[in-house]
Amino acid sequence: MSQLAINFTDIPSEHRVRELFLAAQDVQARAYAPYSHFLVGAAILTPTGNTYVGCNVENAAYPVGSCAEAGAIAAMVAGGDTEIAVLVTICDSAEVGTCCGGCRQRVREFAKSDTPIYACGPDGIRAVFTMEQLLPTSFGPENLVGFVS
Ligand code: THU
Repeated sequence: MSQLAINFTDIPSEHRVRELFLAAQDVQARAYAPYSHFLVGAAILTPTGNTYVGCNVENAAYPVGSCAEAGAIAAMVAGGDTEIAVLVTICDSAEVGTCCGGCRQRVREFAKSDTPIYACGPDGIRAVFTMEQLLPTSFGPENLVGFVS
């Protein structure tokens, strides 16, 4: 079976990023954040062309809550994809709001150093970073080569 090899990491089109922004905004509205009232949405595009979304899900036992990025990654893996080509996050903070430290590491597992990560607000894209910018000199799967079988 032949498969069309499209690598969206080669500068995603504005249209593609806009689609991801809308998907992230859509899922942001469904975030369960009754404690922080800080609603976050995340949308992942994979090199296979699939889109996965996630929102933050809080819990009365606060530390058990999960971030939007974690939800999107879980959906991606459940959907059979293990590569992030583009990540878009959206939140309503006045300043640029991008992935927390823990999520940077979560994303890093499935991203490349040049994977673009868009930080959005209600007004649209506010900033774009590469994975390397958000988590420089990071630890990833390749560091374990030879240690795990
Ligand atoms: N949050 C995310 O969903 N992603 C991040 O990267 C930063 C923080 C969520 C967690 C919590 O539900 C709320 O935002 C406030 O921290």
